[in-house]
Amino acid sequence: MSSNPESFKSLAMTVLMTPEMANFSGHVHGGAILRLLDQVAYSCAARYSGSYVVTVSVDQVMFRQPVHVGELVTFLSSINYTGKSSMEVGIRVEAEQIRERTRRHVMTCYFTMVGVDESGKPKAVPALGIETQAERRRWAAAQLRRGFRKEVEKHSLEIRQNPEELYAEMKETIDHSKD
Ligand SMILES: CC(C)(COP(=O)(O)OP(=O)(O)OC[C@H]1O[C@@H](n2cnc3c(N)ncnc32)[C@H](O)[C@@H]1OP(=O)(O)O)[C@@H](O)C(=O)NCCC(=O)NCCS
Repeated sequence: MSSNPESFKSLAMTVLMTPEMANFSGHVHGGAILRLLDQVAYSCAARYSGSYVVTVSVDQVMFRQPVHVGELVTFLSSINYTGKSSMEVGIRVEAEQIRERTRRHVMTCYFTMVGVDESGKPKAVPALGIETQAERRRWAAAQLRRGFRKEVEKHSLEIRQNPEELYAEMKETIDHSKD
């Protein structure tokens, strides 16, 4: 097997949705999909970087349609971006009706994984080589999401730190809109 990280920029995993994954309505439990997503993100990032990695953030996990028991679900993951110690892993989820042989796109989400050393401290990961048009597009989109994540984190912190102040501002806006 090659030791070049560039050979390990993507990973696919296919899992059959079995009855023990079902929720009370008979569809696949969201938590079962989340667990698989985290396993795929871990495997993709750990194999690419050759390091132990941890999950730092998860974005855009949206269940817009249910996944059914009996479907074959494929997780197509790729390393979209590397920082110093972090990697964005994009995961496209597709569900296949086995007998009908039809496939549908269920969601695409993004995990940020960080390489860590034995003491749990961030560790440098190999810089991603950008070669193809698709890789350039993914890298640029991941750069934008990295910026959005920082913005969201900053605003969330502001909300947690000054809830009363922000509520008062909001109330003023709402009261004015009634005039
Ligand atoms: C991941 C961890 C080691 C980072 O430690 P830290 O002290 O924040 O380190 P840094 O500030 O140097 O950040 C390290 C990297 O994480 C990235 N990062 C930190 N917070 C982030 C966030 N909220 N979203 C996305 N990336 C983030 C930084 O951008 C940095 O990336 P870079 O090195 O590519 O520039 C630490 O937060 C941790 O141990 N978290 C727990 C992880 C875990 O246990 N996950 C499973 C939960 S059950």
